Amino acid sequence: MSDSHHTAHHQPLRVAVLVSGSGSNLQVLIDAMHAGTLPIEIVGVISNREDAYAVTRAKDADIPVTVLSHVASGKRMGIKTFEAHASTQLSAWQPDLIVLAGFMRVLSAGFIDHAPAPMINLHPSLLPVYKGLDTHQRVIQAGDRHHGCSIHVVTAELDAGSVLTQALLSVTPQDTADGLQTRVQQLEHQLLPWTIQLIAKGVIDLNIAQTTPSVLPALPLKLWLND
Ligand code: GRF
Repeated sequence: MSDSHHTAHHQPLRVAVLVSGSGSNLQVLIDAMHAGTLPIEIVGVISNREDAYAVTRAKDADIPVTVLSHVASGKRMGIKTFEAHASTQLSAWQPDLIVLAGFMRVLSAGFIDHAPAPMINLHPSLLPVYKGLDTHQRVIQAGDRHHGCSIHVVTAELDAGSVLTQALLSVTPQDTADGLQTRVQQLEHQLLPWTIQLIAKGVIDLNIAQTTPSVLPALPLKLWLND
């Protein structure tokens, strides 16, 4: 085996992360990258909020950050402008994978279809149930016995792309929406690196998942954790 072949096989997965909030999931990826437990290189972070703590986390780890604030200089940046800048930036980073980790802006079909790499999103429910917001409250109101989080391929329809992986927990009568949010977030912190590991190893092939979901009867892969 030639050296170049050998090197190519061990290239870390180049990951770009889009964030809007605290970035605890980003932090998990940074820590796993530094610990060498996940074969990734975080090539850049885009935040649509200047005040997101995720921005601080990226800077502290010396990861390039681009802030495309939708309230830049007091004027709301339209989604088209945001997407034009984000697209240019992402292409420059040449990612293999784009991860939406707590990214709260809805992206257009054009942006998603022309993204320079497959895009995955972390969602705090067991999709296909509870797309959108307030998932924990809705689980409690419905009296569901199970809840959790999902990672799915991003498509133009909100929270509707192929579900790749899920982590589950049992809901007890004592659970509150806030308590569930904390418990689900702990699951997310395990589900995200686990899923990226499967993608990096080629166990989950996003190009197939994106175009022909019907050939993947085994998905979503489920992780049942004792939280
Ligand atoms: C996560 O709970 C995710 O499910 C939701 O936003 C949160 C992001 O958390 N969409 P963080 O920014 O990674 O801490």
